[in-house]
Order: sequence, then C-alpha cells, then structure tokens
Amino acid sequence: MSVPVLTFFNNKGGVGKTSLVYHSSWMLAKTGKRVIALDLDP
Ligand SMILES: Nc1ncnc2c1ncn2[C@@H]1O[C@H](COP(=O)(O)OP(=O)(O)OP(=O)(O)O)[C@@H](O)[C@H]1O
Ligand SMILES: [Mg+2]
Repeated sequence: MSVPVLTFFNNKGGVGKTSLVYHSSWMLAKTGKRVIALDLDP
C-alpha cells in the first residue's frame, strides 16, 4: 500500500504553515482519509 506524503515547507516564520496543515488535514479526514499530521517546528 502506498502512503501519500504531503510536505508544506517555508523558511519564513508566522506565514500560516501550521494553520494550512491543520485545515488541510481536517478536510482530508472529513473525506474519509486516514490522516496523521506532523508539525516539525523546532
Ligand atoms: N490564511 C490566513 N489568513 C490570516 N491569518 C492567518 C492565516 N493563516 C494563519 N494565520 C494566522 O497567522 C498566525 C501564524 O500562523 P501559523 O502559526 O499557522 O504560522 P506558522 O507559519 O506555522 O508559524 P511558525 O513559523 O511560528 O510555526 C496565526 O495567528 C494564524 O491564526
Ligand atoms: Mg507553525
């Protein structure tokens, strides 16, 4: 089984990375996808 991995990357802080991933994950989960979201913010 292949597992799609989506990566959102931007070096600049505070531009909405976490918010975008949060909402994208929620929307994918609503369509029935099993989602795990990792925020690799140091
Ligand atoms: N599309 C948007 N429009 C307006 N405000 C937004 C939007 N996306 C995020 N924000 C606001 O901008 C701020 C920073 O967003 P967020 O924490 O998602 O950014 P980030 O890139 O993950 O930041 P960091 O680099 O600190 O991890 C938050 O207060 C959030 O509510
Ligand atoms: Mg963040």
